[in-house]
Amino acid sequence: MKITIAKQDSKIKNCILFVSSSQMKQNTTQEKAIKDFFKGSWGETFFLPNAKSSENIMFVGIEDEAQFSYEKARRAVAIAFKAFAKYEQESVKIDISSLQRKTTKDYEQLSQAVTESLLLSEYQCDEFKSKPKNAKKTIKTICLCGASDSNKKAVQKGLSIGLITGQATNLARKVANYPGNYMTPSILAKEAQKVAQGTKLKVTVWDKKKLTSEKMGGILGVGAGSAEESRFIIMEYKGGPKTQKPICLVGKGVTFDTGGISLKPGHTMDEMKFDMCGAAAVLGAMTAIEKLKLKVNVLGLIPSAENMPSSKAIKPGDILTARNKKTMEILNTDAEGRLILADALSYACEQKPQAIFDAATLTGAIISALSNLFSGVFTRNEKLVSTIMKASEKTGEKIWRLPLVDEFANDMRSTIADVSNLSSSRGGGSSTAAGFLENFVEKNIPWAHFDIAGTAYNTHQRLEYCAPRAASGVMVRTFIEIARSYEQKSK
Ligand code: BES
Ligand code: ZN
Ligand code: ZN
Repeated sequence: MKITIAKQDSKIKNCILFVSSSQMKQNTTQEKAIKDFFKGSWGETFFLPNAKSSENIMFVGIEDEAQFSYEKARRAVAIAFKAFAKYEQESVKIDISSLQRKTTKDYEQLSQAVTESLLLSEYQCDEFKSKPKNAKKTIKTICLCGASDSNKKAVQKGLSIGLITGQATNLARKVANYPGNYMTPSILAKEAQKVAQGTKLKVTVWDKKKLTSEKMGGILGVGAGSAEESRFIIMEYKGGPKTQKPICLVGKGVTFDTGGISLKPGHTMDEMKFDMCGAAAVLGAMTAIEKLKLKVNVLGLIPSAENMPSSKAIKPGDILTARNKKTMEILNTDAEGRLILADALSYACEQKPQAIFDAATLTGAIISALSNLFSGVFTRNEKLVSTIMKASEKTGEKIWRLPLVDEFANDMRSTIADVSNLSSSRGGGSSTAAGFLENFVEKNIPWAHFDIAGTAYNTHQRLEYCAPRAASGVMVRTFIEIARSYEQKSK
């Protein structure tokens, strides 16, 4: 699919137009003609052949002023894309000026949002089908039109950024959607090396031997039960001044989580192939940060292991030593994400970064708290909260702050080791998990932890641009936006 901006749009006979219910009441001739069939309510679509100058128009209902946003624009475009695809047409124009409201005035942001949505809506997880799902004709050309000449530059800029961020998100989705037998720690490492080829990204991979000499006790411990060796993947991007401290993006890369000896119940265990969505988000974001040539130094860190039960696996009661020498008592081998993140966060701190952000499908508890609607964020740093919320506002990826306080951190103390991987109190499982992670981050380094167990996959009922039973690619765009905010800070 090719997305362009209006030049030869006169050749394209199909047009998508967004209309709200109050606009429908204004009774222009065009709207009058269809008002008995189309009210302009959210998500409603109506296809009108030969509307004017033999152009076919698809009307798509959106909300009025106050409730509209760039994220609503993304969702509306996804609805339009799906509805229009049924007509098996090769090309279509999208009148992006019809998506402009008081809250969506900026043409660059609007065109970025529209472009992202088109790419995200087009993505299908069909690599494992022996035959293409439908031999239907697909949309080949989409033309963004409706902007005046003075706005064309902004539209073009938004389009080129949206192509990069949308593709990066689809890359993360693709990697995350591979099932466990196609995605192991070593394959994930190879994938990182592959995407870095011919770019400014430098990728270093630590194998089992190196993990041992580097004392990555958590990553080795979690992978001990698996025939697949663990890996630690370091992706380096130097876009800023040589002396500038990097920001670190860390992603949980458990390529399959059976729970280990504390085996998970069988029901929906297949979903644990998505336990590396944090890693996929880091990988995707790094590719975009490089393509956008952001003037900032970024380190992407991915601890990766497969959590399996076997005679070699770690057992409840075992004690592991993390890279920062803290000892961790394993009371439940299913709380494995925090064990591999312990090593990665310790390593991150050694790099003396400006800030650390990690994303992990860490706890089932976050789904109880926030459903698949919001990612949870945990940090004690108010400045980071503001950076994060601004980024989230821009990308439309919903994030809610949850508490990280001393009491939750204390719940993770162990009687025999330094920390335990299971809380001594009831409830608050996502907060206590964050309390555990805090032991591996130096106090003076700003750090935020994102729990994406609810938002990393199966979000299609909430977000029209996500595919069913597939990874959402959440946090790729927010990570990019966070990196971009550091670029601004260092200006
Ligand atoms: N990968 C899971 C968390 C998870 C659960 C992700 C559901 C996506 C959907 C994690 O490793 C885990 O099993 N966590 C345990 C921790 C508990 C044993 C303290 C959990 O949440 O039950
Ligand atoms: Zn687990
Ligand atoms: Zn897990």
